[in-house]
Amino acid sequence: MGFPRLRPRRLRMNNILRKMVRQNQVLIEDLVYPLFVIEGEGIKREVSSMPEVYNFSIDELLLEIDEVKKLGILAVILFGVIDADKKDPIGSQAYDDDGIIQRALQAIKGKYSDLLVIADVCLCEFTDHGHCGIIKGSDVDNDATLELLAKTAVSYAKSGADIIAPSDMMDGRVKAIRDELDKNGFSHIPIMSYSAKYASAYYGPFREAAASAPKFGDRKTYQMDPANGDEAVKEVMLDIEEGADIVMIKPALAYMDIIHRIRERVVCPVAVYNVSGEYAMVKAAAKNGWIDEKKVVLEMLTGFKRAGADIIITYHAKDAARWIKEEGGF
Ligand code: PBG
Ligand code: ZN
Repeated sequence: MGFPRLRPRRLRMNNILRKMVRQNQVLIEDLVYPLFVIEGEGIKREVSSMPEVYNFSIDELLLEIDEVKKLGILAVILFGVIDADKKDPIGSQAYDDDGIIQRALQAIKGKYSDLLVIADVCLCEFTDHGHCGIIKGSDVDNDATLELLAKTAVSYAKSGADIIAPSDMMDGRVKAIRDELDKNGFSHIPIMSYSAKYASAYYGPFREAAASAPKFGDRKTYQMDPANGDEAVKEVMLDIEEGADIVMIKPALAYMDIIHRIRERVVCPVAVYNVSGEYAMVKAAAKNGWIDEKKVVLEMLTGFKRAGADIIITYHAKDAARWIKEEGGF
């Protein structure tokens, strides 16, 4: 056997054949579009390191969602951006029932009943020190933070969040959130956990967008070491044990092996977060004419599916939806 009788090229001879044997395809319904909401009115301010990504006041956010829905996108994930003078050491705006995310959720839910709204749960956008938990000494106070995260989750659920997505990386937070949601009548609300979240330099542009960079130190005592693979499996298994319904790997491009390993191990949906720095790189190269943006983005997203992702959170979602609609992917 073998060549010349076996010729893999036979199945690549024309587009119909290629389509027929294609194993993976990005669907619009796989995509989740991230949105940044800020205080004020009539504000739509572009993030300088993320072309075509904006901070929206709630009124503008609703207009943006009109567009997102028209493109066929079914889900968004919300991040809150607040003024520095509203931040404090314990991130109280996160769990204030009148906080920015709570009001955004209410506004969205008041207008749309058929959009899935995921609420990112973390403290870094609301603490004055910019860390994802409250601080004790020079580190986060893991266990004391759990209670605040759980309170935040319940407050978001009360405001209409469809899925709770903790991104803080404290140990035990999925259990703490699950318990508190259940106690408050939200046992039907799923948790999408940022399970394998690495301490990554690719979050840079996001921290500009959300004004959430840590004021001292880094996130290495809670986010994972990029050199570790087994630890991702451990984190995912613990989160599932604690009640996570969907597990997430983040970032995506430099962690394709992790996506694949997790896919092989779990029977729950796997999400990936194609993060801000990954988006910024593609946008910068495209702007310079160095790559074909459409082809690169669709290849990247298809790669996430091939690696094993079911759900893709990406700033490219709107463009991707347009392109997928236009020609059914490639
Ligand atoms: C907050 C959070 C971050 C991201 C999502 N939620 C930033 C961070 O951990 O510093 C990053 C998303 C992106 O880069 O697109 N914990
Ligand atoms: Zn955080």
